[in-house]
Amino acid sequence: MEIHTNIPIKNFTTMRLGGKARFMTDIFKTEDIAKIFQNAKAQNLPIFIMGGGSNLIARDEGYNGIILKIKIPGFEKMADDINSTTIKIGAGEDWDSVVKRTVDMSLSGIEAMSAIPGTIGAAPVQNIGAYGQEIADTLISLEAYDTENEEFVNLTHEDCNFSYRKSIFNSLDKGRYIITSITLKLSKNQPTPPFYDSLQKYLDENNIKIYTQQTIRDAVIKIRASKLPDPKIMANSGSFFKNAIAEKWQLDEIKNKYPDIPTYDMGDGKFKIPTGWLIEQAGFKGQLINGIRVYDKNALVLVNESATSYNDLEIAKNQIIRKIRDIFRVEIEQEPNEIQ
Ligand code: EPU
Repeated sequence: MEIHTNIPIKNFTTMRLGGKARFMTDIFKTEDIAKIFQNAKAQNLPIFIMGGGSNLIARDEGYNGIILKIKIPGFEKMADDINSTTIKIGAGEDWDSVVKRTVDMSLSGIEAMSAIPGTIGAAPVQNIGAYGQEIADTLISLEAYDTENEEFVNLTHEDCNFSYRKSIFNSLDKGRYIITSITLKLSKNQPTPPFYDSLQKYLDENNIKIYTQQTIRDAVIKIRASKLPDPKIMANSGSFFKNAIAEKWQLDEIKNKYPDIPTYDMGDGKFKIPTGWLIEQAGFKGQLINGIRVYDKNALVLVNESATSYNDLEIAKNQIIRKIRDIFRVEIEQEPNEIQ
């Protein structure tokens, strides 16, 4: 294992901001995690786990510890029956390459999550989702190193306690587990409607009437390319804010002034309000604040155009949060994780 020192974290996150990491190393083998954890513990060094860096913001002070970049490979068929195939995948695999492989095998369950940047191990942390699918729908278990009990564990779907953009890995047990592989149970059935509104609209407009894993994947790739900037060209972390969750009375209050507000009934008395809509209504779409551009095709995305520090991003972010609070009395939250 080669350990690098004083590494600018900004070269490893798609937002391209932030200071240096004291140490950084690539992890290719599951066993190395236990070794490196013991060493770091003996030296009192904190550990941070990084996947593809596409949902991660680094602060200007950097990280005074060791960052592990998980590169563990693997794609193994575990079970197969008439209806489904179960596959175990290494945490270091690239998410979209895996989606492509499963689509090529005519399996469904993750095809609508095509073209999401990042790694397999990062996917369960924020329960990634798009166009009506989320990883919680197909993930049956995962393997991880438990830094609390210092042992490798197998966690079931229930153990992960998934909800919208949330799991134990970014809430209750944040920092405790290092995910080494995930196991997905994918269906052999073709995707069937009803599809997510904007996906169905695209399919109709383009006269796509045969719904296969491949046609859905192709459609999603096209929609995303039109609404989300490619991080290789424009520095960004995808959706920068979570969609807002409002109580019925809050929504009613907003509806008095904005009867056309788009909402999604979550079925538990709560309603999802698209934060992109709130930001657009507040007049921020296309605006440049301290080098941070509110993306003109999708106000939920912040693009780092010329910001040089985390501080610049924080000013832009707080300005947006404050104005949304003032106008709508809704508190919006940052979506990407921070290294700390
Ligand atoms: N909208 C606007 N203005 C905007 C952007 C959106 O009015 O500038 C409104 C539109 O009315 C639209 C609604 O917001 O009907 C919802 O927009 P969209 O369907 O594009 O999805 P989203 O809620 O903005 C979420 C995820 C995305 C995911 C898409 C598609 C979150 C935080 N974001 O975005 O995930 O790709 O749905 O399923 O849940 C990501 O997490 O990085 C991400 C890109």
